[in-house]
Amino acid sequence: MRILSGIQPSGKLHLGNYFGMMRPALQLQERGEAYLFIANYHALTSVHDRERLKQDTWDVALDFLACGLDPVRTVFFRQSDVPEVHELAWLLSAVTPMGLLERCHSYKDKIAKGIAPSHGLFAYPVLMAADILIYQSNVVPVGRDQKQHVEVTRDLALKFNNEFGEVFTIPEPFIPDEVAVVPGLDGQKMSKSYGNTIELFGDMKETKARIMKIVTDSKGLEDPKDPSACNVFALFKLFADDARRQEMEANYRGGNYGYGHAKKALAAAFEETFAPFRARRAELQAHPDYVEEVLRKGAERARTEAAKTLDRARDAVGLSFTGRA
Ligand code: ADP
Ligand code: TRP
Repeated sequence: MRILSGIQPSGKLHLGNYFGMMRPALQLQERGEAYLFIANYHALTSVHDRERLKQDTWDVALDFLACGLDPVRTVFFRQSDVPEVHELAWLLSAVTPMGLLERCHSYKDKIAKGIAPSHGLFAYPVLMAADILIYQSNVVPVGRDQKQHVEVTRDLALKFNNEFGEVFTIPEPFIPDEVAVVPGLDGQKMSKSYGNTIELFGDMKETKARIMKIVTDSKGLEDPKDPSACNVFALFKLFADDARRQEMEANYRGGNYGYGHAKKALAAAFEETFAPFRARRAELQAHPDYVEEVLRKGAERARTEAAKTLDRARDAVGLSFTGRA
């Protein structure tokens, strides 16, 4: 089974990214051959600041390695180190109906947020399809907001296979139900564009202060509370095993347990999970040559695989000229 996912380097990674995409992808590395990459070509559709793009790309590399990416087992690379993906994107463009892209929510949402509607932004899902198809991926772990892009990928793969012969594996999205949408401080989807995030590697004091600001209803300390309606609980249960989750549910229902208590428990769970990752990240930061070497080797492995699919796709459409008619 080949697993593939990517993440844009367009800001500090947060708990929505971690539980929505990173943790499922990192868990799947045990079950198959995983390809994980930093989607810096995609980020260029919204980040036009050279230093920021470079820094964010580096930070994502550190974040993933710190959170448990195993660079021996998993192929980890920068998207821009595999330029073959653009040629495949062009071949796919030739079978991409305009209407399919016009229906993409993510394009409409980004324009609504004020990002300039460039061709790159519009064609974003075609490049994403090329990312997925070029490695013959079976499973794509992503948060719910990316599901439509994986569906576009499936449509394009089927259309291409149908017109030109079987070249691509048809991928499936992988979205664990319990983490489909991680809420932010205000209860909306956690997203850097809503300013409601809890960063993975932010200053710990500030992180605790942000956790204390999570919006709750105004029930008093002694009132029984409904865990299923609470943002604090929704975040806590992502960290907790069954026993701790049940214990907190019972506390909510029993009364005399305030939201402040729940927030403290959440902050402790956050610290318990991320303290070892933080230590590992500091170590990686002190060894940039190692990190660069991981990315370079990853790109080498990725390019070898990418070239195989690209050759087949070129041949299928009639772009290979090796002496044959
Ligand atoms: P942001 O919304 O902060 O810009 P991205 O769109 O860059 O985040 O998302 C990167 C990955 O993390 C995607 O796979 C996305 O689905 C996932 N993700 C982001 N936010 C959440 C969330 N709140 N809940 C679940 N998954 C999320
Ligand atoms: N569009 C994804 C996001 O914003 C990033 C991405 C680019 C991706 N190419 C991909 C995700 C291929 C999965 C597979 O999060």
